[in-house]
Amino acid sequence: MHIINCQINHLSNPLGYHLDTLTFSYQFDQQVTGKVQTSARIIIAKDKTLSHQVFDSHWRQDISPLGFSIPLKLSIRTRYYWQVFAKTDSKSVLESDVNWFETAKENEMWSGKWLTCDAQDTRHPMFEKKFNITKPVQKARLYICGLGLYVAQLNSKKVGNEYLTPGCNSYENWLQYQTYDVTNSIQKENKLEITLGNGWYKGRYGLNKPVHDHPWDLIAELHLEFTDGSQCVINSDTSWTAKQSTITSSGIYDGEKRDDTLNQDTLEVKLSTHPHASLHARQSIPLTIHEEVPVKSILSTPKGELVLDMGQNFAGIFRLNIHIPRGTHIQLQFGETLQKGNFYRENLRTAKQEYAYTSDGRNHVIIPHFTYYGYRFVKVTGITNISKSDFVGLAMYSDMAISGELETGNQKVNQLIHNTDWGMRSNFMDIPTDCPQRDERLGWTGDAQVFAPTATYFRDTASFYMKYLADMRYEQNRNHGMIPSVIPDVEHDNNTSSVWGDAACILPWTLYQYYGDSTLLQRYYPLMHDWVDYIQRVDGDSHAWERHFHWGDWLALDNPNQDDNSVFGGTDSGYIADIYYYGSALIVAKTAKLLGLPSQKHYEDLANKIHQRILDEFFSPNGRCCIQTQTGLLLALKYNLTKNRPQTIKQLRILFSQNNDLLQTGFTGTSILGDTLTQIGLSSLSYKLLFNEQFPSWLYAVKMGATTIWERWDSIHPNGEITASMSSLNHYSYGSIVEWIWRYAAGLNQSPNSVGFQTVSFQPHLNSKLRHANATYHSASGKWHISWKILDNWHVRLQLTVPFNCQANIQIPFILPDTIIKSTNKIFADYHDHTCWLTAGTYDLTYETNQALLSQLSTNSTIGELMADSTAAAKITKIMPSIRQVPEALNDQPLRSFMLQYGAVAGINEQILDDLDQQLRQLK
Ligand code: BGC
Repeated sequence: MHIINCQINHLSNPLGYHLDTLTFSYQFDQQVTGKVQTSARIIIAKDKTLSHQVFDSHWRQDISPLGFSIPLKLSIRTRYYWQVFAKTDSKSVLESDVNWFETAKENEMWSGKWLTCDAQDTRHPMFEKKFNITKPVQKARLYICGLGLYVAQLNSKKVGNEYLTPGCNSYENWLQYQTYDVTNSIQKENKLEITLGNGWYKGRYGLNKPVHDHPWDLIAELHLEFTDGSQCVINSDTSWTAKQSTITSSGIYDGEKRDDTLNQDTLEVKLSTHPHASLHARQSIPLTIHEEVPVKSILSTPKGELVLDMGQNFAGIFRLNIHIPRGTHIQLQFGETLQKGNFYRENLRTAKQEYAYTSDGRNHVIIPHFTYYGYRFVKVTGITNISKSDFVGLAMYSDMAISGELETGNQKVNQLIHNTDWGMRSNFMDIPTDCPQRDERLGWTGDAQVFAPTATYFRDTASFYMKYLADMRYEQNRNHGMIPSVIPDVEHDNNTSSVWGDAACILPWTLYQYYGDSTLLQRYYPLMHDWVDYIQRVDGDSHAWERHFHWGDWLALDNPNQDDNSVFGGTDSGYIADIYYYGSALIVAKTAKLLGLPSQKHYEDLANKIHQRILDEFFSPNGRCCIQTQTGLLLALKYNLTKNRPQTIKQLRILFSQNNDLLQTGFTGTSILGDTLTQIGLSSLSYKLLFNEQFPSWLYAVKMGATTIWERWDSIHPNGEITASMSSLNHYSYGSIVEWIWRYAAGLNQSPNSVGFQTVSFQPHLNSKLRHANATYHSASGKWHISWKILDNWHVRLQLTVPFNCQANIQIPFILPDTIIKSTNKIFADYHDHTCWLTAGTYDLTYETNQALLSQLSTNSTIGELMADSTAAAKITKIMPSIRQVPEALNDQPLRSFMLQYGAVAGINEQILDDLDQQLRQLK
């Protein structure tokens, strides 16, 4: 077929989604011959064989595989079929499979009515409709929304494979309905049953613990089309019946209770008079079960508790096989860690995370319907004879295709990558949540923003974030341009902050960078500029934005008043706020430029004004940054704010050295750390920070047995004790370092002016502790691959894949100039400016290096190691003769930090050390 991954609005074969515009995108498989697409054609029809065409683009050169919009008036509840054809420079004509999309009810009035019932207590209701069919059915679609949550069964079979429908969105602004194809489930005699739960809409959800006291409500339409051409609709109306279900309570935080011994009394069905926001076709992608997590071991704790250890922290539900006598009551409690070997769940705060069940004595397979848990450990009470196979964890998260695979030669780094991936799986719960276990699980904008690039390497996140941004826009409209810190805004506390609210600009921009679909910019331009306009209004003439509340460098370790409970970092939050304001204004200006809007100038001028304000307020006239924190200087460098860049780099280097090369950054600083250090030539420091195993570092958590990313650098102390306040063990934010591993350690880095990964500048940073790295990324433009391997001290193998229609470049690290001249390898076919310029294809090069890669001395080696090598010792003594008098006790100290600290009198500076470093690395 050759043309694959065909999508509409970043969805594959979407059924019943909101389709306001139609943007088509597609990719090519690996077998395509040729280098580039020369033209393409898209055909849309009402039938599979494409004979009843409604659109033909004809052959055009301007159809971009990254996104091509077609203005087409669509009929409601209709399936359309489409196919793409493409011509290549090698004269072949490629085609895709026939794909489809099916429209929802859109603006069609609902003939179904909102129903409710007279359920009095927390006992969940189940609505029922029986109907008979006398003719063969050709097509059956169920359109449905149930509040808070619903589970539908048709003829005792679950409808669809989704959980927690209708999803988590801003219920005050819009309600989502789903569309299901139930054609194959219709029989002559049918029973449709719908059970309702609480979820995010009803019950308890939000930090301020609001209890949303809404009634149970349900609306549905089952549209049937018969083979004879006739149609009928089964509407929700008062002909439906209802009864009590066996679920006695449920909640996102607290879990679920079920009692199978109860009678299921009839309830009265009524039309609901409760006001609702309007119904819209879904935007949420399905929340489905992915992995089955088996029990790793069954523990008996010092307190005598029976605890299942799943071996992996994750979020989701479970499946439990049960056969116990009638009336037996069992309880499961879910937690993330043990303390002193015992079950522990105080870090969940008020969230109960439980499942309670009373048996009717029959065999059952139990799966909760209306909750989810963040857990690794399960405490079981009520039964003693549970075996490993009775319980299976079900990892649940939004259904996104895997886009990247990343692996290195270092097991601990691999575990960090694994933990980050599982952090993502645990927190993509229809909204990007901060954590999946405690009484929070909210769509914090800051966390979403810092993690988005990493997430997008792992999985295709476009449609997931698009739904989040839709909610963000709804909430922004309600808040006059302000972006609440949490989306959906369940808190209603008027809280906004820089870095968090700036997600309104950074997230769409990130999506545009990764997916290259310019319609995303059109879609989000209002969201982006309204946010910047909002800040401008708050800022006024008195720079009030600096004094506004901000989360700052959340959880950084450099607050001078640091204690166990401190959450605010040491970097001036007004400084951070101004820089993000500047960054957002720049994004809006760039977007306006790309969209050809005259507002470009306004935002450029605004950005310049903010830049000047930052210089006036936070930099000396000579360019010295007055914010002397790691995050402060990293921001100055990332946003190119200082006119004295070398001095700022030096300041940053000194700051790290003074802190023994340990990081102190919080959410804000950490997300820009690796990238910025590499940009300023300090990749070796990024590596040093990456490999560090003491607190604070990523591998400290790995060493402590973490299987997900922790909220704090020291969520668990070296003695195994958990930090008392606010300590989630499944918070993905610090996993943002994995973006750096993709881009610079493995080296799969998009070129600066490319979008949608049309061009990659491979930047592998070879490292002996990593030994090798393999990265594959199924980008919007196709499948990229890089792998490098240090074969021995002087040899490297490099393998690259550049997809069809794409280009790449690479400066091959440590290559001997001689190799390039003599080589016939096709990687050098177009070589100039020390760079190989590559077109589509695969490349494989084994080469000799100009320096030792494994046992290598450098200024980061210890004094002892260096002085033991006579040639190295001679070179060092030449620069600092007093080195020979250094007491042995200092032998373990790295030469570089020692010389920076004590070498100033001898005139030693960064430059001299860099030269020395080069010389040491050349030693054979
Ligand atoms: C959340 C964070 C969030 C923060 C705001 C916390 O309670 O868990 O991840 O970003 O509040 O700073």
